[in-house]
Amino acid sequence: MRIPNEIVQQIQQAADVLDVVGGYVSLKKRGSNWIACCPFHNEKTPSFAVNPAKGIYKCFGCGKAGDAVKFVMDIEGVSYPEALRQLAKKYNIEVPETEATPEETLRQNEIDSLYIVLNYAKEYFKEQLQTPDGQSIAVPYFKERGLRDATMEAFDLGYSPTAWDAFTKEALAKQYNLELLQKAGLTIVNEKGRQYDRFRDRVIFPIHNLSGRVIAFGARILTNDKNQPKYLNSPETEVYHKSRVLYGIYQAKNAIRQADVCYLAEGYMDVISLHQAGVQNVVASSGTSLTKEQVQLISRFTKNVTMLYDGDPAGIKAAIRGTDLVLEEGMNVKIVVFPDNDDPDSYVRKVGTVAFQEFIQKNSQDFITFKARLYVDEIRNDPYRKSAVIKEMVATNTKIPDPIQRAVFRRQIAQLLDVDEQTLVTEENFLLRKQRTEERKKADNAPPEPPPLAYDLPDGVTLPQTDTPPAETQVVEPVRSAVSYREEGVVRLLLHYADRTLEGTADTVCDFVLRELEDIAFRTPVYQRIMDDFRAAWLQGAVLGSGDFMRHTDDDIRQTSIDLLAERHSVSSNWFDKFDIYVPHESENLLEETYNQVLRLKQEVVREKLAENQRELSTKSLVVSS
Ligand code: CTP
Ligand code: MN
Repeated sequence: MRIPNEIVQQIQQAADVLDVVGGYVSLKKRGSNWIACCPFHNEKTPSFAVNPAKGIYKCFGCGKAGDAVKFVMDIEGVSYPEALRQLAKKYNIEVPETEATPEETLRQNEIDSLYIVLNYAKEYFKEQLQTPDGQSIAVPYFKERGLRDATMEAFDLGYSPTAWDAFTKEALAKQYNLELLQKAGLTIVNEKGRQYDRFRDRVIFPIHNLSGRVIAFGARILTNDKNQPKYLNSPETEVYHKSRVLYGIYQAKNAIRQADVCYLAEGYMDVISLHQAGVQNVVASSGTSLTKEQVQLISRFTKNVTMLYDGDPAGIKAAIRGTDLVLEEGMNVKIVVFPDNDDPDSYVRKVGTVAFQEFIQKNSQDFITFKARLYVDEIRNDPYRKSAVIKEMVATNTKIPDPIQRAVFRRQIAQLLDVDEQTLVTEENFLLRKQRTEERKKADNAPPEPPPLAYDLPDGVTLPQTDTPPAETQVVEPVRSAVSYREEGVVRLLLHYADRTLEGTADTVCDFVLRELEDIAFRTPVYQRIMDDFRAAWLQGAVLGSGDFMRHTDDDIRQTSIDLLAERHSVSSNWFDKFDIYVPHESENLLEETYNQVLRLKQEVVREKLAENQRELSTKSLVVSS
């Protein structure tokens, strides 16, 4: 199961942090960084930065940081080797390894094993298309629905055989354990202890996450039997949270980014069929009503959503429910309703790609027009109904965070429903005030915002010359000593500039620091280990660089050095803009900076020694006097 070292290195070199992170969020260039709203916590203004030159990312909001491999670990919740394997797949690097033996599978973390067994199931279902039943039942079904081989392959479509436990038996024979098969939602064990497959005699639609891993399945019956559910889906598992997933997002994400709009449909077949017709920026909420998390997932790639809904009453209802959610996230929403009895799948097959695109262009309505048209007949002769509708439209409009946009839509509502704009303003203000009061109430009960991390302030400004760490960092890490801060300063300096020559001398930063601090043992274990590495190499005549530590095999060292290497100066330039303070970049003045860091650490060590002596003396004198 171990991945050979050369391959690990090959993967790490191939895994460009910008490329990997860019697979999950849309990044915008700012200075030497690329920024985005953080995928690890919910935010509206970006504090997540990727620095391609250093190969790292860091969120200045929640503190998550690392390199490309760490990013995959964090966002997929997988272990280091599994993250490497995922990246290897992405970059077509062959990892020579055999199937896991049972003990090895046990040793893996649970999420890893779920991914592995789900992938096995996907391959199994795909292979079933080649069996006699697959060839005579499933393949003809897909062909009947107009799918080509390449499309079936792109969506990993498959077939589950008729027998009660065909899959479970084979998986058990392959040493996958029963508990795992149950946890993955593939096998069901009834009260009598009988094991059977969840999906039988159905065509299979694997559901992929953003990185293309299979996390669940949808399965459709092949007949029109009304006594059975048309679709069966995987239950919620540790890797499948229905409310956070959109069907087709993996296949659609690049097209969404390019088109700068995401089409939102209802069903598996809508996504697949449109994709085949060349309309690839489409995902589906898979029959459940849209959730906030799903909207946020889309918003990583575009701020524009166009909902494609069936013209039946259920479809229209779903569309209306969805709009408010999208608006609340500050996104733009349009709605296209298809002619009665057609869904996007049947429509595109009927009219073809070009006419389909034209239809969308011509029939996209903004949510206001859509709602107003829907109601216009009902309210014509019913003043009570009319005032209710006006209230509802205003309520929807107040979901839009941007006041200018709100004003534009307000005018439109006034025209469409034939009401005075001032009436709308009054109602809107009433609602907004109510919202604010509620928010304030909530905020009063909420715990106070955490103070900014120490990194947020530029060096020299953050560290007052006192015995205790600065107040704002005390809360974050209450037990850290002043010495540890000084040690951090030195380690950070080495990580950034070890091989740089000090102006006017023959010394590198590394030479100077290691010589000056020869007799000082660092108290923070991870810093000491970093220093040990620097020293060991230095004694051999080599100077280590940041890359050696960011790719260190020791987790602690890797994480610490990535944290220390994260770009603080994009933040200090912020200071410069805001407060007109000029903060000299430390690299402009390395000699002084190095000298100061070493001196500060020595001072602090001496100060602490003195304090210790004093304490010792006072306890001793107590002993003597008693
Ligand atoms: N769905 C489901 N369970 C059902 C029915 C529907 O999970 N019993 C979900 C599926 O994701 C389906 C979507 O709701 O794709 C939309 O349902 P529907 O419009 O009934 O199906 P279509 O996608 O049109 O399916 P098909 O074209 O295969 O009949
Ligand atoms: Mn359909």
